[in-house]
Amino acid sequence: MIQNGETVLSNIIASQINSHRRFGGVVPEVASRHHVEQITLCLNEALTEAGVTPDQLQAVAVTYGPGLVGALLIGLSAAKAFAWAHGLPLIPVNHMAGHIYATRLVQPLKFPLLALLVSGGHTELVYMVEDGSYEIIGETRDDAAGEAYDKVGRVLGLSYPSGKELDQLAHQGEDTYDFPRAMLKEDNFDFSFSGLKSAFINLVHNAEQRGEVLDTANLAASFQASVVEVLVTKTIRACKTYPVKQLVIAGGVAANQGLREVMKLALAEELPELELVIPPLKLCGDNAAMIGAAAHVELQKQHVAAMDLNANPSLAFQHI
Ligand code: KG4
Ligand code: ZN
Repeated sequence: MIQNGETVLSNIIASQINSHRRFGGVVPEVASRHHVEQITLCLNEALTEAGVTPDQLQAVAVTYGPGLVGALLIGLSAAKAFAWAHGLPLIPVNHMAGHIYATRLVQPLKFPLLALLVSGGHTELVYMVEDGSYEIIGETRDDAAGEAYDKVGRVLGLSYPSGKELDQLAHQGEDTYDFPRAMLKEDNFDFSFSGLKSAFINLVHNAEQRGEVLDTANLAASFQASVVEVLVTKTIRACKTYPVKQLVIAGGVAANQGLREVMKLALAEELPELELVIPPLKLCGDNAAMIGAAAHVELQKQHVAAMDLNANPSLAFQHI
């Protein structure tokens, strides 16, 4: 529950991680079933915790993509039913815009800005000249950064999602294994993480076959050093190319301590005037408040959805 696009009245999150953990990743059918079970409970809890009744609401925000179609459809159905029952406008929100606007819950945004969006499904650099305007200037050609963390973590026997644990392990080790820095020198703002992932997996499998024992903390540190160096170098290059006042880092991987530290140091050195904004840890991962924050912008632009709004699993940034 959000007030004026920037104050959180409640932010109820139903985590399903324990159910997915034993499969080593999200199982779409399991995710859909959990959404059905949780959605009305979450709606009630959001109202109760905020101390708000439906007649005090101005609009209902809903994300319609990108994401898993089953989970999106359940959110859409619930949001439509609630909006229709209470005579409220339905505001369509892009999940990735939500990650960017999570930042507004802690600090005002200043345009033009550049957002580094790093999550389980996306890695992209988004240039914004004003509220609600998104231009993707670079993106991953294969795996997302979070996806690479999760796949590499699996090889090390860590439980899903392994980004946080790998990050902690990395802080106990050193960058001793020589992993590739893909596309670092290329003159574009795109990324690629599948080569790094394969290099990591091959190294671990070859060592296993030879009976060699590798240093897990050093492996984590070396992997993280590669991811962070590429993300930071390309982001700073983009900040020098575009006239930005702020750099926003958002999405689940924005919680990464290595990324936060190295980006801060590199900016202080290379672009000391540029303001860096990263949401607090609890607003980096998927949450309800970020969708409300992004919806505030859409509502001001009178972007109201019709009741036939459909889920779009591969929704890209665009105006609707
Ligand atoms: O944004 P998010 O919560 O969900 C998606 O929209 O994908 O991002 C989840 C991703 C997972 O891949 C998870 O491993 C990663 O964020 N993640 C991290 C950290 N915390 C979460 N990756 C690296 N370091 C972290 N500290
Ligand atoms: Zn997300």
